[in-house]
Amino acid sequence: MAQGSIGIFDSGVGGLSILAQIRRRLPEENILYFADQAHVPYGPRDMQEVREFSETITQYLIDGGAKIIVVACNTASAAALHYLRRKFPDTPFVGMEPAVRPAARTSKSLKVGVLATPATFQGALFESVVERFAHGVDVIEQTLPGLVERIEENDLNGPQTRAILKDKIVPLIDAGVDTLVLACTHYPFVIPTIEDLFGSSLVVIDPSPAIARQTERLLDENELRRDASAPGDVTYISTDDAYALVTMAVHLINTDGTSVLVNWDGRSLRQKKQN
Ligand code: DGL
Repeated sequence: MAQGSIGIFDSGVGGLSILAQIRRRLPEENILYFADQAHVPYGPRDMQEVREFSETITQYLIDGGAKIIVVACNTASAAALHYLRRKFPDTPFVGMEPAVRPAARTSKSLKVGVLATPATFQGALFESVVERFAHGVDVIEQTLPGLVERIEENDLNGPQTRAILKDKIVPLIDAGVDTLVLACTHYPFVIPTIEDLFGSSLVVIDPSPAIARQTERLLDENELRRDASAPGDVTYISTDDAYALVTMAVHLINTDGTSVLVNWDGRSLRQKKQN
């Protein structure tokens, strides 16, 4: 039985929504969580740039003992997942794809809204998901500029966050949407605010439990489960402020851990001591 860690990465705190589900399902596993907060948000960036960040982060996690990589970021999955699978053929990857399939099955109005970053909509991945799963259901794309930054600031329910959500979701409801796909891992943290604003007029599809199931499946398939009954450790790595990342993790998902600061040095990553 393997003893490596599950490596999870995102541009920031969004992937913590995935970490929480993985931890619930696989509590004995050690986890390395990498947040590239020096570069958040990824969404408005060039795909090539996000691919380069993703490759360097993946290499860093594998060098640090990751036995499987969870790309807990829709933007990075759209920009890099195929490339990473080719580049690191010995490592299993779990990636995010917009949950259009369950949404299309759920919607009664046959109109589904997808909330994601601009880069996620640009990728071939989104196009292929719509082609494979929309089946006569209208899929309406919506970006929410500024929302990822508000969530990074721990503003989950303040006036600015509420204004962004209202501004972007009301037109979807007016267009007949009854089902919303959260295709950015930051967004599950504002589900309570969405519910507060729109009550039962919307079904919200959060893919994070399915991602945790897929992670478990891949560990089993590759015989990579950790052979232990005690809970695993969580290490939080940030390219900006690792202490602040741990504080956010405790606040958002109630999971403490050790902090590690790494700095970008051109295109490579170097571990630092945080003061
Ligand atoms: N959490 C990310 C995603 O799922 C990235 C958001 C961003 O950095 O713009 O797309």
